[in-house]
Amino acid sequence: MTPSLANEQLIQIAEQFGTPVYVYHAEKIKQQYEKLKNGFAVLDTRIFYACKALTNINILRYIKGIGCNIDCSSINEVKMALHAGFEPNNILYTSNGIAFSEIEEAVAAGVHINIDSLSNLEKFGKKYGHSYPVGVRLRPNILAGGNIKISTGHDKSKFGIPVEQIAELEKIVQQHNIFIRALHIHTGSEIKDADVFVKGIEVLFDLIPHFPELEVIDLGGGFKVPYRPEEKETDIALLGQKLKDAFDAHPLADHKKLQVWFEPGKFLVSECGYLVTQVNVLKENGKVDIAGVNTGLNHLIRPMMYDAYHHISNLSNPGGKEKEYMITGYICETDTFATDRLLNEIKEGDYLVFHNAGAYGFEMSSNYNSRYKPAEVLVKDGTAHLIRKREEFDDLLKTQLKVL
Ligand code: LLP
Repeated sequence: MTPSLANEQLIQIAEQFGTPVYVYHAEKIKQQYEKLKNGFAVLDTRIFYACKALTNINILRYIKGIGCNIDCSSINEVKMALHAGFEPNNILYTSNGIAFSEIEEAVAAGVHINIDSLSNLEKFGKKYGHSYPVGVRLRPNILAGGNIKISTGHDKSKFGIPVEQIAELEKIVQQHNIFIRALHIHTGSEIKDADVFVKGIEVLFDLIPHFPELEVIDLGGGFKVPYRPEEKETDIALLGQKLKDAFDAHPLADHKKLQVWFEPGKFLVSECGYLVTQVNVLKENGKVDIAGVNTGLNHLIRPMMYDAYHHISNLSNPGGKEKEYMITGYICETDTFATDRLLNEIKEGDYLVFHNAGAYGFEMSSNYNSRYKPAEVLVKDGTAHLIRKREEFDDLLKTQLKVL
């Protein structure tokens, strides 16, 4: 059974903590983690939660508690992970375009590191030689996922070291005797097709002879979650089996010698999240009425940034007559969440919920229009805990220096 939160509980939370509010359901995260653990049991795997999706410290601690490792995309996320109590050996730092000083900090913290440029690899080699095992992120030149804005492994992408530069890479590795422990790729987000991962692992398998000390193949994250009701998530068990078959079929790869790492973000925390909001104004607008809600691109930017679909429902009138609506935000920009959306009839003051909002929702929020960031609530074992206060006016001023 898929754990989900009932309308009544979401309304109760909205009344207790106000709106807009992000609500996360702990048991759903655990269910997703179990799918990964079971589906990949055919291989020696480690799962690192890509915490860029959602970094509330309580979510990090919960994820640690269920036995999952953590992947970070900035040195501050590494610090958050340490603060949440993760051991350095369970922390991975996969970044791009960063200053070498962040890599030095990561080495000092003792975490796993994937390096994404020849330039930083060379600096790393000069400073650490063979003393600190490291991974390299490669760009496999694979176009993956449904949306170019979140596709990262294609041949124009800024991410990783282009695989065609393998000779230069090898030269740097040999010159400084670097201990290459891991080869990493991450081709994008929302990838349903298991064959994309198979294609990726085969690119890395072909490189095995170049890296005699290799211990890990890291396939990144990017598993699909069903944003639309009719969509399906990536079939993890099928993917696990296909990867095992790819190992068995490849003359250079041995799954008993190579561990496989994954860095899922969305798959773990997207569906656990709900953004509950209230309708400020209704406007008549031809045949599709506009419902203006008390949130906007400042709290959930995915629809505007990626044309992403988020399912919306009217918590206050679940059985009501269905009508078409355009759902818009309160920011002074065109922040349209949905056009032509069939929803149970809406009145001003109704509670609407955006589903599947746990990943890259709060995390990508801002203070645009001097609006507060919303509160966050975690429901665990049926109880709702406030895990982040809604901001207040002082928060908007706290880093500003009054010089005039
Ligand atoms: N590993 C690396 C190196 C990544 O860059 C990412 C995501 C992940 C893992 C996790 O990917 P996931 O499993 O969450 O798809 N803001 C966009 C998604 C951007 C993903 C950036 N990198 C969105 O809201 O769709």
